Amino acid sequence: MPDQPLLQPFDLGALRLPNRVVMAPLTRARATNPGLLPTELHAAYYAQRATAGLIVSEGVWVSERAVAFPHVPGLFTEEQTVAWRRVTGLVRALGGRIVAQLWHAGSASPGEMTGAEIAGFVKEYATAAARARRAGFDGVEIAANGVYPLARFLNARLNSRTDAYGPDGGRPLLDVVDAVCGAWDDGTRRVGVRLSPYWSRHDDPRAGEAYPWMPDEAALSRYDEVVTALSGRPLAYLHLRGPAPLSGPDEAAFARYRRLYDGPLIANHGFGRESGNALVRAGTADAVSYARHFIANPDLVTRLALGHDLAAGDPALHYEGGARGYVDHPAWTPAPLPLAG
Ligand SMILES: Cc1cc2nc3c(=O)[nH]c(=O)nc-3n(C[C@H](O)[C@H](O)[C@H](O)COP(=O)(O)O)c2cc1C
Repeated sequence: MPDQPLLQPFDLGALRLPNRVVMAPLTRARATNPGLLPTELHAAYYAQRATAGLIVSEGVWVSERAVAFPHVPGLFTEEQTVAWRRVTGLVRALGGRIVAQLWHAGSASPGEMTGAEIAGFVKEYATAAARARRAGFDGVEIAANGVYPLARFLNARLNSRTDAYGPDGGRPLLDVVDAVCGAWDDGTRRVGVRLSPYWSRHDDPRAGEAYPWMPDEAALSRYDEVVTALSGRPLAYLHLRGPAPLSGPDEAAFARYRRLYDGPLIANHGFGRESGNALVRAGTADAVSYARHFIANPDLVTRLALGHDLAAGDPALHYEGGARGYVDHPAWTPAPLPLAG
């Protein structure tokens, strides 16, 4: 039995993970334009990382209207669906599992949307989930984090509605969850939700006044309600991005949701080998996701297992396009052995 909790298997809903090292979603802006298709580079990138207990794909657009940045792949045309099959097929052939992160970054503002528009917005997620299934993904993750529409509805500074879609009560996120679970209708748990209750200006200083430097208790208790409501849904997991790790990951922040959510919990933000193992050992999370470490360490699981040093990536290449900084990070190799004789 491996001595690291991160290396123990875990049943995450319908998915049996051989280890608890999850690859967090990473937008890398390498899709074709036009078309927003994943390419052979995507196939290589995800194939290199197939030893992860679970891969959460980069955010993929659920619809044409969801698109906000160039070169981010979609999951709303037949061509995109077919192109993703190449990626999911390879990951599966290599023994891995991959879920699609469903992303909407449209400019829709909570205050301006009619009930019919919100219903249409919800439906876009369900349609994309059905496509994800046909594209061979093992499940989907609903991205409700950051500064994007689903999270904006939960932000009292940005949502002044007084109807059912006000900042309390968790809608339309819960509507999206129900619609997506309905679209993946095989009775298994294959839908995850990603939340970032602690999203603040530390994460994106451009977010401005709508996001304080630390979320206040009112904002956090609104998320408590959402998490409690999610607890009753047939989800595979809850994926929590914790506070900015100013001095290491904040265990208490994850413990808060561990008490409220009755299902598998994946923790994220600033973890390394020791802190990830400690969180799982303490029972505060079932798995830990790594984003930046997976960029420069395609063999992250092996490196954690063997205690090897981790390589550092170059942030200038995050969204640069092309192979550099994307598929050219080597797996760990020993220092050259001295020549005999
Ligand atoms: C280049 C880059 C792209 C990212 N893209 C996404 C994304 O598509 N969806 C998402 O939910 N989070 C995204 N994130 C956030 C990461 O998943 C993660 O929450 C963050 O990097 C903290 O984890 P880490 O400390 O392990 O890097 C991105 C982060 C980086 C650095």
